[in-house]
Amino acid sequence: MTLPTEILQHLNEQLNRELYAQYLYLVMASYFYEKDLPGFGHFFLRQSKEEGEHAMRLFRYLMEKGASFQPLPIEIPPKNYESPLACFEMAYEYEKKVTLSYYNLLKKARDLGEYDVEEFLLWYIREQREEESLMQGWVARLRLANGEGPALLLLDREAAAYAQSEEEE
Ligand code: FEO
Repeated sequence: MTLPTEILQHLNEQLNRELYAQYLYLVMASYFYEKDLPGFGHFFLRQSKEEGEHAMRLFRYLMEKGASFQPLPIEIPPKNYESPLACFEMAYEYEKKVTLSYYNLLKKARDLGEYDVEEFLLWYIREQREEESLMQGWVARLRLANGEGPALLLLDREAAAYAQSEEEE
């Protein structure tokens, strides 16, 4: 069944949001590598890769539905952050924004009786729950560390271990 125009447009915008997340996390990875915190750098590199996979999943869905992919401009993400905490706070805020946009799309799909789209979107709803929780956890730990060197280095090591374990899954 052909996708309604507004759903198609929204799916293309979601794809763009995922590509922006991929780019944003790549920039955040560079921020940490350049600050000699390679654990956090690795963490964001891994998140960036995952966002790219989210975009590809949307792309494949469009193709499967015989729908049209609409290329949209990708904003340039900010590069400098006041602190590691500020960087994670921004990532957390972005995830919350993405979650809301999926909720809006899901509502639209339900209102229009687009059950196939609804089923497809549920995967993203679950994924967003995990990603929000992940970022929220790091924000909380970084607040506890209060920008202090030794605590920050420990968290950096923890972030590296997390990224490594996710890669091995
Ligand atoms: Fe795929 Fe974190 O949004």
